[in-house]
Parts: sequence; structure tokens; C-alpha cells
Amino acid sequence: MNDDELRALPKAEVHVHLEGCFEVDTLVSLASNAGEALPRSPERLFEFTSFDGFLEFLSWSCGLVRSFDDASQAAYAYAERASAGGAIAADVIVNPTHWGSWRGDLTGLVSAFDDGFGAAEADGLATVGLCLSVMRQQSGAEAAELVDWMIEARHPRIVALSIDGNEKLSGRTGRRFASAFERAGAAGLRRTVHAGESSGPDGVIDALELLGADRIDHGVRSVESPEVVEALVERGTTLGVCPSSNLVLGLYPDMASHPIEQLRSAGVAVTVNTDDPAFVGTDLVREYRRCIEEFGWTDDTVREVAAASLAGCFQLERTASR
Ligand code: ADE
Ligand code: ZN
Repeated sequence: MNDDELRALPKAEVHVHLEGCFEVDTLVSLASNAGEALPRSPERLFEFTSFDGFLEFLSWSCGLVRSFDDASQAAYAYAERASAGGAIAADVIVNPTHWGSWRGDLTGLVSAFDDGFGAAEADGLATVGLCLSVMRQQSGAEAAELVDWMIEARHPRIVALSIDGNEKLSGRTGRRFASAFERAGAAGLRRTVHAGESSGPDGVIDALELLGADRIDHGVRSVESPEVVEALVERGTTLGVCPSSNLVLGLYPDMASHPIEQLRSAGVAVTVNTDDPAFVGTDLVREYRRCIEEFGWTDDTVREVAAASLAGCFQLERTASR
């Protein structure tokens, strides 16, 4: 399958952070409008020394988004990006803790994103659902507050509760967030959980058993435990795998060491995604291409993975049930 055929193949992106979609030029212009200095030169803006430094940078960049129009534009630009990679739908993660200028005004932030995604859809671009995310370092009370807001707002753009951040620093926090995730599930929201990236297979088990995860973001380190792989296969849980992100953030040294093919051939519902495409320097077609080249994926395999992404997409599930 060549790149044009890959692009034309209907697929969904189910693991991507809006925070990770700002290109250098956009950040330079947002910083200039906000009267903020860049932390480094534009050429070195995406150079990070640690995962935590990377997460802090996301807060710096999103902190530059201060107006409704800028936030709406960021949402529209993501839909353009998704469509350029041949995604017909996407579930996009937004972690409100990164968007410091909107503290106390989640309603305003979600309205701005809804405006951008709605305009994109009206222009024939990908349909996008929002997954609002808790940060691993937050308290159970903060997660409960977010879920209270989500249940009260019942905003049609919101499809899921998510959790992301650095599990290496937070340690095992499944119990802390269990009741918030349970309430979200009972209210009809989907649940997607970052696990098996900065945590090992234990994090994936906690995601399934304590947080009721309908989908796992990354989940690649499940491969270290045959029992966890078996649990994923049995439950049919979709993994939002992001190969290049895992390499850039140092989880694996090269594609040959990446476990996506091992998981797929064991029967896990893997999908291919970009995570933080601007920083990782990738797009959806390139992620599929890397798997084709490294693992010899046939056209049938590529079609199966694309079909798994459509089946695992909350936004498509939501729009189909309307
Ligand atoms: N937030 C943005 N990208 C992330 C990643 N790869 N893991 C955890 N949290 C994130
Ligand atoms: Zn992620």
C-alpha cells in the first residue's frame, strides 16, 4: 500500500493530545501575541531533557492560548491534521491542567474547542470527540471535581474521561481515582487510561480493574506480562499505540524493539496513533508506514488495524448512536 492508498484508507485516531499539536511557528506567534519569551530558541524549542520537562513544556505552550479564537483555531487545526492523515474521526485528549489561562472556566475552554471542531466538521473534515483528562499527580478530590463538571455539563462534544501524565513520578494511583472513574462510567462516559508507558504491566491491570478502562493509551509494556496480554485479548480492549512517541520519549531504542507487532499477533486490538504529533514530528500515515516497513504488515493487516481504530473510536460510537 503506498502513502496515497494509506491516506485514503478510512481510519480513526484514538490517541492524540491537543496539547501536543502546536507547531514551532504557531508557538512563536502565540508567544509573541502574549508578550512571552520563548524558553529556548525556536530551533531548539522541542528539545527536552526529561519526560517531566516535556509535560511542563505542554503547560507553557497551552498557557499561551488565551482567547476563544485561539482555542477554537487549535481545535480546527487538529481536525485538518487528522483529515490530512486520512482519519475520518478522532478522540482528542485535553488535560485542563495544562491550559492555565482558562483555570476556573472549563465551560469557556470546552465551548471554544467545540466551536473549532464543529466548524471543521461543517467543512467536511474529521469528526472529533473530546476526552477530558485528569493528571496522574492530581488528588482524588480534583478528579471528582472534573467528573462532577462533566456529569453536570453533559456536553455533546465530550465522549470520555481520561487520565495521563507521569506514572513513574506518581506511583500506583488507581485506587485514588477509582470512584471518579466509576461515576463517569455510570454516567455513560467512556474511560481511557494512559498506562503501560511510564508504568509497567501493573499500571495496565490497575487501569482495567480499578478504573474500568474501555481503552488503554499506549499499553505497550503489557507485553512484559503474558497474563496482562491475555487479559487484554479476553476483554477485547483497544490499545492506542503510538510507536514514534515511544521512541522519541526513550521507551524503546528503535522500531525493531517496539512490541506493537508482538501484541497484535497475540490477538490484542492494537491501533496506530501519533500522541503528540508536533513534538514527535510525525503524522498518521508515517506511523502506519513505519509498522509496514519494520514488521512487514500486509495490506490485510493494515486494513485490520485501521478497522480496529474505527471500532475503538468513542466519537464514532457516539455519532452512530445518535
Ligand atoms: N501527555 C501528553 N503526552 C503524554 C504521554 N505520552 N504520556 C503521558 N501523558 C502525556
Ligand atoms: Zn498520550
